[in-house]
Amino acid sequence: MRMNTSSIEIPSLSLPIKTRRLTIREYTDDDWSDVYAYVREEAFWKFQAGEAPTEEKVKALIQWAVREQKIAPRVNYFLAVTETNSGDLIGEAVLKCLPPGHGQGDVGFGIARSQWQKGYATEVARALVDAGFERLKLNRISAQCAPENKASIRVMQKLGMAREGLLREHYQAGGKYWSSVIYALLAREHEKIKTNTTK
Ligand SMILES: CC(C)(COP(=O)(O)OP(=O)(O)OC[C@H]1O[C@@H](n2cnc3c(N)ncnc32)[C@H](O)[C@@H]1OP(=O)(O)O)[C@@H](O)C(=O)NCCC(=O)NCCS
Repeated sequence: MRMNTSSIEIPSLSLPIKTRRLTIREYTDDDWSDVYAYVREEAFWKFQAGEAPTEEKVKALIQWAVREQKIAPRVNYFLAVTETNSGDLIGEAVLKCLPPGHGQGDVGFGIARSQWQKGYATEVARALVDAGFERLKLNRISAQCAPENKASIRVMQKLGMAREGLLREHYQAGGKYWSSVIYALLAREHEKIKTNTTK
C-alpha cells in the first residue's frame, strides 16, 4: 500500500529565535567576514581543528549554510548568533538532524573570544535544545567536543545532558587525531527539567 505523505507536515525551526539577550538567525552571504574575524583566533579553533581556518574555508562554510536554508526537509541549521542590543554577530548555533522520523539531533555552539564567560553559549544551546525537542519533536539531542574543552563540557552539563562516552581518535584534522566526549539529553529528561524549572 502506498502512503500519501503529501499531507504530513514536517516541522522546521521557526527563525529567528530570540533569547533574553541574543537573536539566533539565518546567515547571509556577507556575514562571512564577521565570522572570520572571530574563528581565526587560536582560542576559538584550538580544540576543534588544529589549525586556523582560511578566508576561503569560512566563505565556503557560510555559502553552504545559506544553501541549506532552501533544502526541504531541512536537516542542517547552521545559524548566526547576534547580540540583540548591538546587532553584532558574536557566534554560531548549530543543529544537525538525521532525516525526519529518526528523532535525532546534534547541537553545537561557538562564541567569539571577546564575549566568553557571559553565559551566551549556555543561552544559545538551551534555546536550540528547547526548539529541537519542542518544535522538531526530536527524541535525543547530543553534543560533542574535545575532552580538553572544559567550557564546552560545562555548557553540556548545564543543559542537563549526560555523558555517554568517549570516541577515541575518531577523526583527523590539522595533522593529528582527535577524540570527542559525547553528551546527550532525551526528550523525556528535557520535559522533566522544564517541569522542575517552571514549578
Ligand atoms: C565553549 C564556548 C562556546 C563557551 O562559551 P561561553 O559563552 O563562554 O560559555 P558560558 O558563558 O555559557 O559558560 C558556560 C560554563 O562554562 C564555564 N567555563 C567557561 N570557560 C571555562 C573554562 N575555560 N574552563 C572551565 N569552565 C569554563 C563557565 O564558568 C560556565 O559555567 P558556570 O555557569 O558553572 O560558571 C566558548 O568557549 C567557545 O566558543 N569556544 C570555542 C568553540 C568551541 O569550542 N565550541 C564548542 C564545540 S561544540
